[in-house]
Amino acid sequence: MYHHAKKFDFFDTILERPDWVNKTVLDFGGSHGNIIRDDVSKIEPKNYTCVDVDNFATILGNDDYPEAAWHHFDRYQPHYNPTGIVGEPLPMLARFDFILAFSVFTHTPHAETKELVHAMLHDHLNDDGVMVVTFLEPYALPWFLEHRAKYETFDQDEKLEQVKHLDYFWLHDGVEINQNDDNADDTSSYTGFHTPKYFLSMIAEAGFKQRYVCGRSIDTDAERQSCIIITK
Ligand SMILES: C[S@@+](CC[C@H](N)C(=O)[O-])C[C@H]1O[C@@H](n2cnc3c(N)ncnc32)[C@H](O)[C@@H]1O
Repeated sequence: MYHHAKKFDFFDTILERPDWVNKTVLDFGGSHGNIIRDDVSKIEPKNYTCVDVDNFATILGNDDYPEAAWHHFDRYQPHYNPTGIVGEPLPMLARFDFILAFSVFTHTPHAETKELVHAMLHDHLNDDGVMVVTFLEPYALPWFLEHRAKYETFDQDEKLEQVKHLDYFWLHDGVEINQNDDNADDTSSYTGFHTPKYFLSMIAEAGFKQRYVCGRSIDTDAERQSCIIITK
């Protein structure tokens, strides 16, 4: 499970401090609700729905915030839900004013990202709703390598050289880099990095209006994630 606070501030900043009162929120891949656990969160738990493949996280979320809705999405995910069902479709929920996905499509193969973004946009977002999806740009790689270097010795410069001209790549187990998009059997952690151009082109088929926002300029403790804002 993934513990990390200060998620609300990230979205509040990106969305230019909207009025959250009475706004319904789907936190897709929201774990045990890091967004509503943020001290400054203005999301009313009764308006909050979390969907995650990590069953334990949703149980914990439900224990702490029973007024919110917690759904275990039992789709196979080698790292977070290795006993899940391969290709399980996203369940029909309600429609939401905001759909937020922080560091979720950094862990899904491209075909799955396209499928899920499409499903959320068409089946779960209100017509005047807004969806925010984060991704990692290649410039964020040193932050991850430095973290790994605390536990293992390797040549960071060589890794940076390796990705210099790539428009996407995967970081496996915090240190191995490749472009293999089939992570199906990889139970170690893997994290995807994409140039904005590549990430946008990948999900453009879903048919939406989008605005790309670079996370670098946003002063939140948010792992250097960048994001796109999607509307219908
Ligand atoms: C790095 S964590 C981020 C958690 C949370 N969004 C946050 O920022 O605190 C990635 C989360 O995505 C979830 N996840 C991965 N693949 C998913 C999928 N296909 N559908 C729903 N959730 C998924 C994982 O279970 C995990 O909780």
